[in-house]
Amino acid sequence: MSAARPTKSVSRATPLTGQHAHEIQAFGSIVAMPLALASETRRESATNLNQVLADTITLRDLYKKHHWQVSGPTFYQLHLLFDKHFTEQNELVDLIGERIMLLGGVSVAMSADVAEVTLIPRPPKGREEVPVQISRLLNAHEIILNEARTMARQAAVDGDDGTNDLLVSNVIRTNELQVWFVAEHAVDGPLVRSDGSSGEDPSLDEK
Ligand SMILES: [Fe+2]
Repeated sequence: MSAARPTKSVSRATPLTGQHAHEIQAFGSIVAMPLALASETRRESATNLNQVLADTITLRDLYKKHHWQVSGPTFYQLHLLFDKHFTEQNELVDLIGERIMLLGGVSVAMSADVAEVTLIPRPPKGREEVPVQISRLLNAHEIILNEARTMARQAAVDGDDGTNDLLVSNVIRTNELQVWFVAEHAVDGPLVRSDGSSGEDPSLDEK
């Protein structure tokens, strides 16, 4: 006697796993979107935003690497700051990725693909000193700021005000602020005793 076949209502509730098919949109292509923007404008903006996206994903991950691997007397402060910046960069990642999609493009997403595109130099897998961590972060920020300003101007010329606004209000402003918070840690000031560089030690005058 054969086993009873599942009833129709049960088979419809069974998950259909292991399915495969061709992708529905190729990376680099643009589909039509009723945005009152020319397809060439949307294509150029999507291409530019994918570069900023790849670099922002890389900078975001660099912050998490440094959050984990930081060491030294400023460990706690930098441990917290690096994670705050990671979170803010992650918010930028979502804003940029979703704008590429709404323009009709395809967002770069997976780390192997990001690694092929990013302009930010790859750090070693191991731990580095705080000054080197900071230098890496500042260099990455400057790469993003440089390209974002160029792309923002291009978007404005093309009439893509939404992309211009995203780049200026979100990407540029966030990166500029983060540069300040990180760069001030690279000022070589005394921790406890003034170095007296402006004159002699006043305590010596009384002797
Ligand atoms: Fe953490």
